[in-house]
Amino acid sequence: MSAVPDIVTIGPHRLYLGDAYAIRPTLGWMDADVTDPPYEFRAEGGGEYRKARNGNMDQIVREQLHKGFDHRIINPLLCGAAVVFCHNDQLSKLLPYLDGLFERFALCMWRKRNPQPFANKHYRPDVEFYVHCWSRGYHPQGDIDQKDRVIEAYSVRREAKFGHPTVKPDSVMDKIITNIAGRTVCDPFMGTGSTGVAAIKAGLIFTGIEHNPDHFATAVARVTQVYEAALAKA
Ligand SMILES: C[S@@+](CC[C@H](N)C(=O)[O-])C[C@H]1O[C@@H](n2cnc3c(N)ncnc32)[C@H](O)[C@@H]1O
Repeated sequence: MSAVPDIVTIGPHRLYLGDAYAIRPTLGWMDADVTDPPYEFRAEGGGEYRKARNGNMDQIVREQLHKGFDHRIINPLLCGAAVVFCHNDQLSKLLPYLDGLFERFALCMWRKRNPQPFANKHYRPDVEFYVHCWSRGYHPQGDIDQKDRVIEAYSVRREAKFGHPTVKPDSVMDKIITNIAGRTVCDPFMGTGSTGVAAIKAGLIFTGIEHNPDHFATAVARVTQVYEAALAKA
């Protein structure tokens, strides 16, 4: 990959192929950073069930999506609010990092309607957490019935995953975007562009960063499609 990032411009939206830690600080202020960064968790084990899952967990390990991320990329000098997905095992480090950086935060969750049928000496993996933190003026938006902290949704089916092991469902991202204040949204770990799809549908301006060229190409295709659909409707 070259030192200069590849940039794809789609109407007012910009997608960067490159390293989030190098690129995000150069982008300046965004009203919200909404992101699903690499989780940090123990990826060993799983036995026969893991084998039967068509290598999803193996792909996570191959792409190093179980090694966590550098929390300092979430910077209140660069965004009014942040929504950050995280694994159960990350909460004890992420929450103290965010405490005091933003004015307030809420711990929210996506409750899966089709959780994996194992518990591995732990709890069933039936929820994924996200933290929404905000500075003054960037508090959660929406009517009272849009302000639930729990989203109920099915996981994305294998054939709708675009070859990515951890795609977030559209309905989850749509709900999160309804709670975001402002006009500009950045996802530094955009994967296949699910945040961008939701943001553009809601009429917001999206900037995304992804370092994997295959996932980047998927994000470009998805964002282009939703942008063109929005133009056709206008
Ligand atoms: C958990 S996935 C995001 C999936 C996304 N929510 C979706 O629905 O497609 C995290 C993504 O961050 C990317 N990533 C990891 N480290 C990165 C870095 N330093 N710079 C840019 N992208 C990175 C990975 O390739 C992966 O696609």
